[in-house]
Amino acid sequence: MLRNLGVPFDLKSYKRIAGRLDDTDIDYAAFRDEPLPDDLLRCVRYMHDVESHTSCYLRNLLNTRAHHDPAITEFMTMWAFEEHWHGDALGRVLEAHGEASGETRLSAMRRARVSGLAPIGWMAFSAATRHFVAIHMTFGVVNEWTTQGGYARLLARADHPVLSELLRRIMKQEGRHIDYYRSSAIERLDGDRGAQRTVRSALRHLWSPVGSKVMSRDDTRHLVTTLFGGDDGAVVAARIDRRIDQLPGLDGLGLMAGVLRQHRAPRTGAELLRTGARSTGGYSTVMAYSGQLSAARRAASSSSAGTSVPHSSTA
Ligand SMILES: [Fe+2]
Ligand SMILES: [Fe+2]
Repeated sequence: MLRNLGVPFDLKSYKRIAGRLDDTDIDYAAFRDEPLPDDLLRCVRYMHDVESHTSCYLRNLLNTRAHHDPAITEFMTMWAFEEHWHGDALGRVLEAHGEASGETRLSAMRRARVSGLAPIGWMAFSAATRHFVAIHMTFGVVNEWTTQGGYARLLARADHPVLSELLRRIMKQEGRHIDYYRSSAIERLDGDRGAQRTVRSALRHLWSPVGSKVMSRDDTRHLVTTLFGGDDGAVVAARIDRRIDQLPGLDGLGLMAGVLRQHRAPRTGAELLRTGARSTGGYSTVMAYSGQLSAARRAASSSSAGTSVPHSSTA
């Protein structure tokens, strides 16, 4: 039990240090003389877009049970602010390469890939399970771990002095996000078998690499194979899976191993059909899953028996 508990997150201390990423002395102009190779610059585009998408994610989360907890909304306010500046800094890297960033890139992406119905899906999902916040916190730490791992891999692959310094500063803030989500997930999972079953099921059915629901499948595949595809990347991916294993009741999910298998192997027709809903921005996936949760809850109340979220045959 002790291995799972760790140190509770100190929100007051975080409030004192949270803030805009300090990049005032980052020499972005250096990228003009020493640009990143195309394959890594494509990863920076993905990271810029996803960091900058945090405000949309926040919009959805504020329509859920998370909104009822002032401590969560307090954290999320500062978390979203920090993520915004990560996106802004990565945008400056793109600009130094003569590429569009910020509003120019994001407007097109939101028009093409963000559903106006998304908040409804999230409201339904939150209403369908009392364990929604446990799901939110666990997805949070998994996404922060994978983000941190992605930055570490980009730093190692690029071996660029300016990018390395920028990414180290971003990763320092990501580390605090990890601490919050991990602590909050453990608080809700530890000793609660219902929460553990529900979160396991949600991770199996709904989790995919951060950003993959709003980025193209090709971009996601490129990011996964470029940063996690080689032997060194596989080590980082395996470490993330081991960290997930240590969360209460979540051992053996192998999420990153599954992502690597999915993106390495040639895609079959069955796989394309099974994962097709994700390419629509995740709205239909979340709605379908909320429907499953609601049906399970109705069945449980009519039989007066305990229930768990139905498991997918494809999990
Ligand atoms: Fe970030
Ligand atoms: Fe983060």
